[in-house]
Parts: sequence; structure tokens; C-alpha cells
Amino acid sequence: MPNAATSIEKPDVLILGGTGFVGKVLIRTLTEAGYAVTVLSRQPSLHGNLASQPSVRVLALPISPDAHDADASSSLAKLLQGHVALVNLVGILNEPQHNGEVFEHVHVGFTKIALTAAHQAGVARYLHMSALGADAVNGSSFYLRSKGAAESWAHEFGSSHGIAVTSFRPSVIFGPGDSFLSRFAALARLMPGVFPLACAEARFAPVYVGDVCDQFLEALRDSGKVGQRLDLCGPSDYVLRDLVAYAARVSGHPRRVLPLPDWLARLQARALEFAPGKPFTRDNYASLQTASVCAPGCPRQPTRLEDIAPAYVGRSPR
Ligand SMILES: NC(=O)c1ccc[n+]([C@@H]2O[C@H](COP(=O)([O-])OP(=O)(O)OC[C@H]3O[C@@H](n4cnc5c(N)ncnc54)[C@H](OP(=O)(O)O)[C@@H]3O)[C@@H](O)[C@H]2O)c1
Repeated sequence: MPNAATSIEKPDVLILGGTGFVGKVLIRTLTEAGYAVTVLSRQPSLHGNLASQPSVRVLALPISPDAHDADASSSLAKLLQGHVALVNLVGILNEPQHNGEVFEHVHVGFTKIALTAAHQAGVARYLHMSALGADAVNGSSFYLRSKGAAESWAHEFGSSHGIAVTSFRPSVIFGPGDSFLSRFAALARLMPGVFPLACAEARFAPVYVGDVCDQFLEALRDSGKVGQRLDLCGPSDYVLRDLVAYAARVSGHPRRVLPLPDWLARLQARALEFAPGKPFTRDNYASLQTASVCAPGCPRQPTRLEDIAPAYVGRSPR
């Protein structure tokens, strides 16, 4: 186990977006493997629990929304000094207006700032979180196009500036604290017997958060992963309808799933853009038109949903 007293001698990894669902598991994976971790957050004071872990420090992200990119990169470069690798997990699922601008800003703009800073600070290893189906040109949503553009930009910049880049393209990620199965279980509790569902035939290969983070660790250790864009899928493919019925059942609130016709799904997406937190949007609807499953022959991650989900989805309040 790592010891805080020796952290100064450990290779230091800086994580952007490390306070979220995936980030918390990645911090544990890296510190248990002997790394020290610096996490940058827009609101570090909210993450005292992370900062109290051995070999972890949480600092303020030194980028103001209206800073010029060059200023933002040099501020970030100062914090990056001495780190062996930069990990970028920053991502959003919805934006204030349905026009792609904020997706572009957060996914592409932030990636440019991060890699420019890595170059200035002499950090030679960069791990980039993308998403399965991300494609700058053919992505079916603003989310997938901006994720694809960021991923491609990272690889191109890395190749031309001597930074070793690996990107990770997971299907939907499950595990304690996810906003996927846990959210469906919570919604099922509120539904009276029937669960109306948009895009019920959307396809996923849910991948366990622990397996995703193990892939990040392996990439840090294995130079053979440099330049790769790794599709990450769990062992099985599912349709959304079955996943929702499963989450409802294991949480103790079995529901009959009622697939919504396409016109109603589109209407629901429009309406829910006005709900707090935007639980479903036109852009989410567009993302769901792309099957989030791996190509035949792609290596699968080992952990089964059915072996993990009952322990946390079943804990939702009754
Ligand atoms: N979860 C999934 O099923 C899934 C599937 C495929 C790909 N991914 C990708 O994996 C990454 C992590 O996902 P997650 O589920 O862990 O997300 P999450 O829980 O929502 O965490 C997102 C992180 O991004 C940071 N962030 C958000 N907006 C930001 C902004 N404007 N500027 C700077 N930082 C910002 C947040 O940091 P602070 O609030 O502390 O600043 C937070 O730590 C994302 O890139 C996501 O697209 C996730």
C-alpha cells in the first residue's frame, strides 16, 4: 500500500476530470499501484474526501471560462511540472443550448489546452478518455462528434509533438456510483408498474469501471499501447429495454418496460431538456441512434454486469 510519507518519490500523474464517477475509481487504481495523483477540479473544496487519501492531492483547476487558451495552457503547464503523465477524463453529457458549442468547448477546446500544457511542461505521456462511437465526421450527435474531434486532435498533436497518446473508447460504464443502472433503478421506484422507455432497442456493451481503470493503468505501464485507440466493451451486448428491466428487478421494483414509439421518444427528449439536470435531451436521443457495441473480434473486458450490479443497484432506497 502506498504511504503518504514516500509520495515525493512516486511517479506523479495529473488527472483532469478526476472527481467524477470514473475518476474516483482511477485514483484508487493508480494509488494502489504506487502512483501519486494530482487531481484538478473547478471546485476542489467539494472533494475533501479525495484529498484525504494517501498520495492524492486535489487542487483548483487554474482555468477560468473566459481565459485565452494560451493563458490557460501556461497556467496548467505550471501545475504539470514534474508529472510523468496527464490523464484527461473531462466530459459532459448535455449542454445549455442544442447547438454543439459547449460540447466543442469542453471536449475539443479543453483537450487542446491540456495537450498544449503537457507539451510546455515536458510531460510525454497522455491518456485520453473518449467514447465508443466517437467520430468527428460521422458521429450521430454533437456529443459523439466532439468526442471524436478531441480524440483525433489528441493523437495528431501527440504524433507531431513527441507526446505518447492512448485513447479509451468505452461503451456505457457501470459500477457503484454510476448514473446508468442506478438511475434506472431510482426511476423504476417512481413508476407505477410500467416503465415507459425511449430508444428501447438501443444497444450497449456495458463495461465495468474497474476494468476501464485497469486499462488506463496498463497503458501507463505498457509502451505498446502508445498510439492506440482502445474500444472497451464488457463481455455481453444488451438492448436498453433489457437493462432497464434488469435494474428495476434487482433493485426490488420490477417493472414492465413499455417501449415508446419514435415520435414520442423525440418529444420526450425535447420536453426533458427543460427538466432540472436535463435527464434526456435531443442530443442524447441522437447518441442512442449509434449502437454502443464493439466490432466482432474486439477483445472484451472480463467483468460481468450480473456479478457486480446486484451489490449496488439493489441498495437503492425503497
Ligand atoms: N460514464 C460513462 O458511462 C461513460 C461512457 C463513455 C465515456 N465516458 C467518458 O468518461 C469521462 C468520465 O465520465 P464520468 O462518468 O466519470 O463523468 P462525471 O462523473 O460527470 O465526471 C466528469 C468530470 O469532468 C469534470 N468536468 C465537467 N465539466 C467540466 C468543465 N467544463 N471543465 C472542466 N472540468 C469539467 C468534472 O470535474 P469538476 O466538476 O470537479 O471540475 C468531473 O470530474 C467523460 O469524458 C465521459 O464522456 C463516460
